Amino acid sequence: MRTRPLKVALLGCGVVGSEVTRIMTTHADDLAARIGAPVELAGIAVRRPDRVRAGVPAELITTDATALVKRGDIDVVVEVIGGIEPARTLITTAFEHGASVVSANKALLAEDGAALHAAAGQHGTDLYYEAAVAGAIPLIRPLRESLAGDKVNRVLGIVNGTTNFILDKMDSTGAGYQEALDEATALGYAEADPTADVEGFDAAAKAAILAGIAFHTRVRLDDVHREGMTEVTAADFASAKEMGCTIKLLAICERAADGRSVTARVHPAMIPLSHPLASVREAYNAVFVEAEAAGQLMFYGPGAGGAPTASAVLGDLVAVCRNKLAGTTGPGESAYARLTVSPMDDVVTRYHISLDVADKPGVLAQVATVFAEHGVSIDTVRQQGKDGEAALVVVTHRAPDAALSATVEALRRLDTVRGVASIMRVEGE
Ligand code: HSE
Repeated sequence: MRTRPLKVALLGCGVVGSEVTRIMTTHADDLAARIGAPVELAGIAVRRPDRVRAGVPAELITTDATALVKRGDIDVVVEVIGGIEPARTLITTAFEHGASVVSANKALLAEDGAALHAAAGQHGTDLYYEAAVAGAIPLIRPLRESLAGDKVNRVLGIVNGTTNFILDKMDSTGAGYQEALDEATALGYAEADPTADVEGFDAAAKAAILAGIAFHTRVRLDDVHREGMTEVTAADFASAKEMGCTIKLLAICERAADGRSVTARVHPAMIPLSHPLASVREAYNAVFVEAEAAGQLMFYGPGAGGAPTASAVLGDLVAVCRNKLAGTTGPGESAYARLTVSPMDDVVTRYHISLDVADKPGVLAQVATVFAEHGVSIDTVRQQGKDGEAALVVVTHRAPDAALSATVEALRRLDTVRGVASIMRVEGE
């Protein structure tokens, strides 16, 4: 074993960074044996030194992250700051100074992954980011390496624990969105400003990363259709239950039937209770991968939290250190397929539509005609009448999203349609 240590700079020492520090310290001997050389924490850059947690070596703390990555003797930079800047500049500077980078930064990778991969390649260094998607769950490496010989057709996942916790509470207790969100906040699952989670931004960044790797095609955050879950109601859950379904916020990356284009989207959807993703409870994540030869695979586990995310970071750290010692690099960006990333209009799926209509002769026929005129085939219709009004629930066969949107527009224009209470896609069948 080499005795000269590999030097690691840690950028950020919050929930994840302090766990990375703890594991690096307590498992130092095992890590050295697995890598073939000791790894040494050479510096820890933080914004607020007064907030550094107990157990983190005070002598390693600095507020000058730029100087740390420019030192010249750093082998690996671990970036757990998050956000676009200063993370992007620090990572680029690290590459320029010959360091490999392990990052947990989904927002940055979704926005600028291609440029970062190019910079890593240019300097003969690695960029690994297992922790950026679904915390501890090994997902990036299985897609990037284990399935590199297969053809992935679909990635369907719950990649945000906060929203899964909220939806699970709504499902199991009948609570409304706000009540479930309040509980998630009180328990520390939701942040004070939950926008990134509940509006689907966090999941959309993860979907962009997963789609890019799965389909060997550049997919950016802007390519991902995103809908949050703040409009999901207790009534939607009641409807879902009647269909033998529950509601999950799903990230869905799909290859089109013709194989030439792909789509990536995040939105709430009904899924049958028989689907493995339906039983993913609380703040857990799970990703279902469908590949041509492998068939259906499911990856499940904690998608957030200090220690689980640090586990993924440490796995990457071992891998890039091994590469350093071997004088090589791991797989970089694979975007050779250059498939078209199609808009949401082209997505084909099923829909559950709840309408409030007048309860009088001919209304059902009128509604059915609108669906037919737009080429959307109805699977089932349920109606419950009360005082001259009726709640109508239409479930369609598979149809393009554009056709469904046009149908809903036309329905809204009917005098007999008082309102469109909800539109929800039905997935996983
Ligand atoms: N906020 C995310 C979640 C974890 O709730 O899953 C980090 O991506």
